[in-house]
This record gives sequence, structure tokens and C-alpha cells, in this order.
Amino acid sequence: MRVAVVTGGSSGIGAATVRALAREGWTVVAAARRTDRLATLAEEVAAAGGPGRVVPATLDVRDTVSVDALAAAVADAHGRCDLLVCNAGVGGGDLEDRADLDEVLDVLDVDLLGTVRCCAAFADLLARSAPSQVVAVASVAGKLGVGPPGYVAAKFGMVGLAEALDLAWRPRGVAVTQLNPGFVRTEGFPQAWADGTPAARVVAEPDDVAAAVLRVVRSRRRERTVPGWYRAVVVLRHTLAPAWWRIAAATDRPRRRERALRRDRRDRTA
Ligand SMILES: NC(=O)c1ccc[n+]([C@@H]2O[C@H](COP(=O)([O-])OP(=O)(O)OC[C@H]3O[C@@H](n4cnc5c(N)ncnc54)[C@H](OP(=O)(O)O)[C@@H]3O)[C@@H](O)[C@H]2O)c1
Repeated sequence: MRVAVVTGGSSGIGAATVRALAREGWTVVAAARRTDRLATLAEEVAAAGGPGRVVPATLDVRDTVSVDALAAAVADAHGRCDLLVCNAGVGGGDLEDRADLDEVLDVLDVDLLGTVRCCAAFADLLARSAPSQVVAVASVAGKLGVGPPGYVAAKFGMVGLAEALDLAWRPRGVAVTQLNPGFVRTEGFPQAWADGTPAARVVAEPDDVAAAVLRVVRSRRRERTVPGWYRAVVVLRHTLAPAWWRIAAATDRPRRRERALRRDRRDRTA
């Protein structure tokens, strides 16, 4: 049976990916900090009676010991890892002044360094299981540079990591794919800004991203954007940069107002 490890499997895109892979017959090691959630997910999948199964695992991607322990446990229990989905992530990371430093560092630690830790810990097992694959759940924020700077930096980092790792690892049978979702409604990213507006139509669901994970696992392609129309925006950013910066500034305006209000509140309570 093929074995997948999904980090951040306890909610949102990760949980949807765990369910989708289990429906396709995979043994899925679902890893996160909230193990109660993972246990419920495993029971739900077992009760559905599908061909796959879910194995819950405790993981904090900020902790190298925890990540290494997960890789060792997967090697011991299953002897292989055919797919590593680096999905664990948090949002936020505005950088207005010194008070924001801890949050920015945390976002980088979870989203970017967590992915680095997971890729390092699973490198040997993935190579021994070749042909195998890593799917890095980055973001269109890692292509466009719009959003909280800490988050954008982490996602640009993930995109670069995935591109360079694919060059290094594909010759040994390990494909590395960057999967770049746009806005998706989840616990960590509720997308409340879009509620009741026409923009709600562009907000995708976690199942849309899970379906894209299944597609890149079949195709082993290097890059995928979900929904696909965001690719046109990425092309615009690279081919007509001056026009793009005007659009980006307009897109950032509501967030600028929100940041100013937050700064104001903080200064008043200081
Ligand atoms: N939603 C969007 O609009 C969107 C768009 C583009 C990309 N993404 C990316 O998609 C990924 C999944 O996000 P989501 O939207 O599904 O949000 P979510 O529902 O909040 O899920 C985040 C997951 O990450 C896990 N996580 C957070 N910190 C962790 C840590 N230190 N160690 C291990 N696991 C950790 C959480 O599990 P525990 O809290 O149980 O540990 C949870 O399972 C993220 O990388 C995010 O950047 C999301």
C-alpha cells in the first residue's frame, strides 16, 4: 500500500487532502499538534469503509526533534514514504515595527523552516521509496508578493525551495511539486473579507486543493496553481510589472487601513 505523510492534517486543506488520499486507497499518516482532531478524522475515514486508512501522528514542525521522530516512526512502521505533503502553515506576519518581530519569525518558522525540516527528515526515506514525491503547499502569495510580508516571504521561500529541490532530487526519483492555492476558506484563513461581496466567488474550498493534490500526484508536475486562472495574474506580474504594481497597491489598500487601525489601538493601550 502506498504511504503518504500529510503535515497540518488536522484541519482545512490538510484534512481534505487526508480524506481524498484515503479514498484513493493510501495509508495516510496525518500529522499535526491537535491529535484529538486527527483521531476523529481517522475514525471518520474508518467508518466510511473506504480502501485507505488514516494513522494519526503528533507533530510540531517548529521542533526538529519532533519532525525527525515522525520520519523515524514512519520508517519503522511502514518502511516507506511515497508522498510527503508539506502543508502545515499559519497566516499573519505583518511587519510594521519591532513589536511584530515575534509573529513574523513564527510564520517563517512554521511555514518555511517547517517545510525545510520535513524535507530534510524524510529525504532518505523518500529516496529509498522512489519514485516518490513531495508536494509543498505554498501559495500564490509566494508568486505575487501581496499580503503580510512575513507570510509572503515564507511562501516565496517555499516556492524557491521546491524549485531547487526538484532539480536536485528528481534525478534520484523524488519529484518536488509546488502547489500554489489562492484564497481558500479554512479555519486559519476564514476569508471573512469576502463574505457578502462578489469576491466570495473567487474563494475556493479545501476539497478543491485536495483534488489538485491528487492530480499532481498522478502527473508528477513541478507546479500547479489552484484555481488555475491565478496563473494569468502571475504572468501579468512578470511581463507587465508596472501595471501589476498599481494593481497590487490597490489590492493592499484595505489591508493598509486595517494595519493603521491596529497600530493605533496598540499605541493607545501601550
Ligand atoms: N486558506 C488559504 O487561503 C490558503 C491559501 C494558500 C495557501 N495556504 C496554505 O495551506 C496550508 C494549510 O492551511 P489551511 O488554509 O488549511 O489552514 P488551517 O485550516 O488553519 O490549517 C493549518 C494546519 O497547519 C497545522 N499547523 C499549524 N502550525 C503547526 C505546527 N507548528 N506544527 C504542525 N502543524 C501545524 C494546523 O494543525 P495544528 O494546529 O493541529 O497543529 C492545521 O492542521 C498552509 O500552509 C497555508 O499557508 C492556504
